[in-house]
Amino acid sequence: MVARITPILQPIIASSEPIVLRMPPDKSILHRLLILGSLTTSHFKVPITSRNSISDDVIATMLALESLGVPVDIGEDSIELQGVGRHGLRAPTHAINCANSGTTARLMMGLLAGQEFNSVLTGDASLSQRPMKRLADVLAEMNAIIATMPMGTLPVEIAGQHLRAVSIMLPVASAQMKTAILLAGLFAKGMTTVREPTQSRDHTERMMEAFGFGIEHETAIRIRGNQVQELEEEIVYEVPGDFSSAAFMIAAAVLLRKRLVIPGICLNPSRTRFLDILSIMGVELESENVTEAWLEPRGDLIIYGDRILEPLKPFQVEGEEVPLLIDELPILLTLALFADGESTVSGARELRVKESDRLHGLASQFLAFGVELEETEDGISVHGISDRRLWSTPIVHEGDHRLLMSFTIASLFANSSMTIEKIDAAEVSYPEFFHHLWQLCGRMNVEVSE
Ligand code: S3P
Repeated sequence: MVARITPILQPIIASSEPIVLRMPPDKSILHRLLILGSLTTSHFKVPITSRNSISDDVIATMLALESLGVPVDIGEDSIELQGVGRHGLRAPTHAINCANSGTTARLMMGLLAGQEFNSVLTGDASLSQRPMKRLADVLAEMNAIIATMPMGTLPVEIAGQHLRAVSIMLPVASAQMKTAILLAGLFAKGMTTVREPTQSRDHTERMMEAFGFGIEHETAIRIRGNQVQELEEEIVYEVPGDFSSAAFMIAAAVLLRKRLVIPGICLNPSRTRFLDILSIMGVELESENVTEAWLEPRGDLIIYGDRILEPLKPFQVEGEEVPLLIDELPILLTLALFADGESTVSGARELRVKESDRLHGLASQFLAFGVELEETEDGISVHGISDRRLWSTPIVHEGDHRLLMSFTIASLFANSSMTIEKIDAAEVSYPEFFHHLWQLCGRMNVEVSE
């Protein structure tokens, strides 16, 4: 599929007429819910707005669990899963294909390391280039036996083992690695302790606590192996909206000076640093009706794009902040192109091992757009111009969903129309992206065709 983006050439007129967009269920929470739910004996119902809102990454986790004998099904208005209990997973009859989903691959490595059977994980071309050995090495401290390819990549072969509980310091702040160890820790004898260099998203800790999995998470995170938890038989888990998907529409609303309302969005503070940066840029935001369910805060978010009267201000993001907005950095740097002056992101080396080398991909496309910038080993500085026009140039997103969505939004401010190819990549995380963007800026500007 291709998208034809016609830039907004007339001066932007602020609009206080609110546009309401409901985000897909939070992908990070949903992966964890499917996996942890499988290890209980409860029946889970997860309401969804449509089958189409569910991303390919989440489907990858569902299919992985199905091949481990977990009854899981997706309908038009819900996902249903029947937990099989702590020791209820069955040996898969074939290799488990994690498609493009790094979270599926890493979480499965942790889950499968302590099973009584062997398994193999594969992935698509992009996932097969991403690092798996650093997690395999950490899990090896727990006795796990995981063989990667010589380059440390998928396919991996996991020989299920009796795991031992150890104390682990993560080499990088990665929620995927942390979660993999905690999942392995559920099957280890004794107390597994994980420390991370700086905090990453904490959905696993919250869900394990809410489900009674014997976790403590004050300074270090500790999980007790083989603890039996009791939950109700029937659970309806409303997953809040995905913050990382929302970031794209928030950025578009800011650039288009529109008022945007996003109901029921995940407001977990380990995910929302992007909002703090927006405030620094001069954007007014508000959250309403904030509640907590299963220890995850959620609420309605209002972005007052219509109240931005001054040019956007530039920002600095560094070190400890990075894991708290890791997936929002591509769209944040895209916003920086339209701020007044130099914005810098540093300490973000992890961006080089995402679905693509995102630092390189961003820098190359921005240069092609005519932006002045400096790419460093662990970040980028871009020179923003508040009323800038980007040069029309082919979009190179390498199939990376977050680069594709960022560059599409940037294209609304190019000097002539552009055709963007292979836009199906958005389905990895946000299948309704083009439809939502169209709702935000209008049929004239965003056209999708086969
Ligand atoms: C995720 C963690 C992040 C993020 C990814 C999803 C998760 O990766 O980039 O999209 O659900 O745990 P790391 O924390 O491993 O860098």
